[in-house]
Amino acid sequence: MTMFRRAVCPGSFDPIHNGHLDVIERASRLYDVVHVAVLINKSKRGMFTVDERIAMIEEITAPYGNVKVESHQGLLVDYCKEREIPAIVKGLRAVSDFDYELQMAQMNHGLSGVETLFVPTSPEYSFMSSSLVKEVATLGGDVSHLVPELVFRRLSERIADMRAEPKTSSD
Ligand code: PNS
Repeated sequence: MTMFRRAVCPGSFDPIHNGHLDVIERASRLYDVVHVAVLINKSKRGMFTVDERIAMIEEITAPYGNVKVESHQGLLVDYCKEREIPAIVKGLRAVSDFDYELQMAQMNHGLSGVETLFVPTSPEYSFMSSSLVKEVATLGGDVSHLVPELVFRRLSERIADMRAEPKTSSD
């Protein structure tokens, strides 16, 4: 039986940006199959639906040839167990990421034995997050160099739609 070396890159990806893509692309060179798991967080309303996020990631990562994109609700370790994935690959942007990422890595290892491997984010992406990209874009800043072209188009469309929507509050 052929054994594929598998890893997962998890996240909210609302939306995917160049920092995420850097980590996924590097993971795709290290593993036979890279799963991108879009985690569903019921308590957070995203700018994009989970299906929209998945469609963007699938299109953008298609050239890598070994990336599989799925959504998951619940524990990441259960996603890993169901698919026999032994490793989680995460980007570390700065020391400030480390505390929480270490906690999650230790918790996940304790729960199921799954390993977490940290990839240092390329320096040009060390300041990036989906929240900042959305905030800057919503306030009219140029984020075209921070996200793939497809995401830039979808983001611009979504922001235009949001501006056109009638306000629901009285102010
Ligand atoms: O892109 P994000 O929002 O920073 O990603 C965080 C994410 C989704 C990777 C993390 O919250 C997660 O793993 N959630 C799944 C639920 C889970 O397993 N929680 C326990 C973590 S130890």
